[in-house]
Amino acid sequence: MSTLIKNGLVITHAGSFEADVLIEGEKVSALGARGSNWVTDEVIDAIGKYVVPGGIDVHTHMELPFGGTFASDSFETGTRAAAWGGTTTIIDFAVQSKGSGLMEGWEAWMGKAEGKCAIDYGFHLILSDVNDQSLKEMDIAIGEGVSSFKMFMAYPGVFYSTDGEIFRAMQKAAENGATVMMHAENGIAIDVLIAQALERGETDPIYHGIVRKSILEGEATHRAIKLAELAGSPLYIVHLSALEALAEVTNARDEGLNVFAETCPQYLFLDLDDLGNGFEGAKFVCSPPLRDRAEGHQEALWSGLATNDLQVVSTDHCPFCFEDHPELGRQKRLGEGDFSKIPNGLPGVEHRVELIYHGAVTEERLSLERWVEVCSTTPARLFGLFPRKGTIAVGADADIVIFDPKRKHVLSAATHHMRTDYSCYEGMQIAGGVDSVFSRGRLIIAGDEYHGSKGDGKYLKRELNQHLV
Ligand code: URP
Ligand code: ZN
Ligand code: ZN
Repeated sequence: MSTLIKNGLVITHAGSFEADVLIEGEKVSALGARGSNWVTDEVIDAIGKYVVPGGIDVHTHMELPFGGTFASDSFETGTRAAAWGGTTTIIDFAVQSKGSGLMEGWEAWMGKAEGKCAIDYGFHLILSDVNDQSLKEMDIAIGEGVSSFKMFMAYPGVFYSTDGEIFRAMQKAAENGATVMMHAENGIAIDVLIAQALERGETDPIYHGIVRKSILEGEATHRAIKLAELAGSPLYIVHLSALEALAEVTNARDEGLNVFAETCPQYLFLDLDDLGNGFEGAKFVCSPPLRDRAEGHQEALWSGLATNDLQVVSTDHCPFCFEDHPELGRQKRLGEGDFSKIPNGLPGVEHRVELIYHGAVTEERLSLERWVEVCSTTPARLFGLFPRKGTIAVGADADIVIFDPKRKHVLSAATHHMRTDYSCYEGMQIAGGVDSVFSRGRLIIAGDEYHGSKGDGKYLKRELNQHLV
């Protein structure tokens, strides 16, 4: 099967150029000046449209067990929704349970995803039980294509690791080349503030945002950086939301350390006010929480993306239904009367590429090349997928999005494809939109039609971090 995408503006991290793109089988086989006369099975005219590498979302949680329930998107529904929004690769988090082996977690998540995904997928591992055996298993994981391990300074009693455990894992990562990913919030201090708030009768979702102080994200980020510096391991801060944390990452990068960070659309578009309005605010409960707009976090994050102090936008897609669900039962409503029992996480995998485009162009915050870089190229480099993914070049996988800058549409739960009964962006009109999506050469989205099927997506064995200084 061969396809010619003609007359589009090809945008990569390195520049934009008018070109025709030839796809043969699963790969890009040629780029040529407009007007090339290659003979192909299919021809798609992309005049007036952008031709960009498929999005890579390096932070999703399909089917994650959390707070007594499970994230509502399965690998089938979540990857299909991702495709609708121009994402052609996800990296999800397999979980090591306390008391079990690290690779048992990987095997369990491989089983959940096998034969289900609409797009290609890889895994990080959540390292929640640090001991001699699980540290040894990090080497085995790397051999299976899992080169990054998430640890938590938050959620005591669940995923939390002590500084000593984190440091041991970082020493191992310094030895084997893995990247340690950190959920950087001081969970011990936060638990004190949660208990004090509940004692005062402060039970509404807004208090989730109030007790999880931005200073405690800054403190944990600083501590993680210092531990990684001492151990000599690469460090990637996940879902960075606070300007205090950004300042720590900026300093570390200025010192030449291998410290990287992502933020997420929710921290760029939503804020603490969304957690108000009684229990409705539960729809917006995630950790770290949405921040107070007046404190300047949002503007700092947009600037950080522009200056490369932040390198990636991921979604941290971790959806739960608001109303009781016939199959999933109570989800967000588990926290009625106690905000600390609301499952943490938001739906978002479908909207990242479009939202960042919208923010980039409507406020002139990022160039088109930078949009591609933070949504696709740098994620590929940091997580060992480049140049197979993350660019449009001869030999790369033909994961390609045709993006229509003239399309306008409104985000809504009534039209999105994620398995949740609400949208965090209900009614928001956005500029531009996905027109067509190719996954390894197959046209899976064509306008309003879905042509993919479950099991099309393949497991990606990833290399080590390709973005180290
Ligand atoms: O609220 C969040 N972020 N839920 C998902 C789990 C995590 O910490 O990434
Ligand atoms: Zn986290
Ligand atoms: Zn997460």
